[in-house]
Amino acid sequence: MKFSVLLMFVFSLLFLPALEAAVYKGQKVYVKKCRKCHGGGQKVAASKRMREWKKLLNRKNKGIKLANLHLEKNKAKKSWKYFDSKKYRKRARHLKDFMVEYAKDSGNVPACN
Ligand code: HEC
Repeated sequence: MKFSVLLMFVFSLLFLPALEAAVYKGQKVYVKKCRKCHGGGQKVAASKRMREWKKLLNRKNKGIKLANLHLEKNKAKKSWKYFDSKKYRKRARHLKDFMVEYAKDSGNVPACN
């Protein structure tokens, strides 16, 4: 009994920071690359459900759906270079972690700031 509690404690120490770090990384990417066009990240995240974000920022195809959404729109021309870059494809999964964390149906209410 004591052992399992200890084990759980150790696990939470190991995994919580990893998850939080991923969400934080995604937020950083958002602030740097998306905010200038879309405004607050948590608000954008809350505009879709977790499932929709997972589709748009799918890990296997490296976020190609979200990229294409932009590459098809002339209005988003200034983002084309980024969405067509290796950098974007590498970080799409962090972005996904952030978006899913604050998705409409995630249960995490965005902070008012
Ligand atoms: C240069 C400006 C620009 C940048 C940078 C940009 N976007 Fe966009 N984004 C747009 C435009 C324009 C659209 C199309 C909106 C429309 O059709 O009215 C769009 C559409 C979207 C949509 C679809 C919205 C919907 O209604 O389904 C999402 C989600 C989105 N962007 C997320 C992001 C994320 C995440 C990033 C950062 C990686 C980002 N955008 C970077 C301009 C930008």
